[in-house]
Amino acid sequence: MKDTDTPAYLSGFAGDHETEAVAGALPIGRNSPQRPAFGLYAEQLSGTAFTVPRADNRRSWLYRLRPSADHAPFRRYGGAALFTTGATDGPMAPNRLRWNPLPLPETPIDLIDGMVTMLANRPPEALEGVAVHVYAANRDMATRAFVNADGEMLFVPQHGRLLLLTEMGRLAVAPGEIALVPRGVRFRTLLPDGEVRGYVAENHGAPFRLPELGPLGSNGLAAARDFLHPVAWFEDRDEPFELVQKYMGSLWVTTLDHSPLDVVAWHGNLAPCTYDLARFNTIGTVSFDHPDPSIFTVLTSPSQTAGRANADFVIFPPRWMVAEDTFRPPWFHRNVMSEAMGLIHGAYDAKAGGFAPGALSLHNMMTGHGPDAASWQAASAAELKPHKIDGTMAFMVETCWPYRPTPHALACPERQADYDAVWGGFPKAKVQ
Ligand SMILES: [Fe+2]
Repeated sequence: MKDTDTPAYLSGFAGDHETEAVAGALPIGRNSPQRPAFGLYAEQLSGTAFTVPRADNRRSWLYRLRPSADHAPFRRYGGAALFTTGATDGPMAPNRLRWNPLPLPETPIDLIDGMVTMLANRPPEALEGVAVHVYAANRDMATRAFVNADGEMLFVPQHGRLLLLTEMGRLAVAPGEIALVPRGVRFRTLLPDGEVRGYVAENHGAPFRLPELGPLGSNGLAAARDFLHPVAWFEDRDEPFELVQKYMGSLWVTTLDHSPLDVVAWHGNLAPCTYDLARFNTIGTVSFDHPDPSIFTVLTSPSQTAGRANADFVIFPPRWMVAEDTFRPPWFHRNVMSEAMGLIHGAYDAKAGGFAPGALSLHNMMTGHGPDAASWQAASAAELKPHKIDGTMAFMVETCWPYRPTPHALACPERQADYDAVWGGFPKAKVQ
């Protein structure tokens, strides 16, 4: 099988899956037999502490050509200078910030070297918090793999498809779809469209899961069966491979004499997955007012405080707006949670301009924000008939930890110097 052939998938979010690329490779009835088939090496990959409640427990057993322990010492990696957790202390202004899209690269650069950290909020070793990266790349990772010990990576492509070749199989991900690669799973990327741009949410906390549905009942939002995990796939390549690892906020590299993507079979509930955001069953009001945006949660990473997310991945998908006597875009708000927003395609209904696909905005804890004056004017005057917001997909990575922009994010040319001006020009209300 070629690595670019169409991938096959197993359906069901974090289901207990089993898959083998070679018949007979997967042990039956036990995890670590004395002599696995074909001389394969059995290895457990744990995504949660061993003794977390059963419903939260994530682990898989991998059966591979060589143990993953077979590598030389890591040394500091000199590339990807902007891919870092960045500063996590010191004074920080409570300003609203917005950035134009990252330009597409003009010289060859792969996904890892093309990754730029914009926002972060907790040191990875705290085992909580989330970082937001943007990426732009145009080169395949041909003999190079990456692994993130700091957290899982939620890929949100905005331009160009990613083919993620992971230890546990292959995922094809297009704009409008997302992919989630668990902490510790090695992968490399091919770029079938030549160039790519997008976002990554790196979650250092509890693994993303589907949110509880509460009064919604047993259906709605993202359905478990629409999350697709890869079938086992491996490459048997005895040649030098670089393995770059993100560990405690910085990057390290070692060289292997083989591809680390050599898992012939696996079983368990910890595996990469992909999800088509068009399958999200969007819920909204059919009377008046807005539900809170938590109604748009695709995946959530809980903190240790019930109901307060370490990170929520939320989308603003196409949907009908039917509310009567209601200002339909998001009203003005100040939240205890902090919001990083991106746009995959189309236009976001609370901003008349300045937020192009690929752009990023930050509204941190208790910063006042909401519609700009033009959007407010238009929505206040609009005739309220059923209206479909269509051809758009925005998203938010919301977190209880205020984000810190990296020094690069504050200084880069993509930063919009005049963002605060969008909330200028509102006429004063008259009470007399
Ligand atoms: Fe907001």
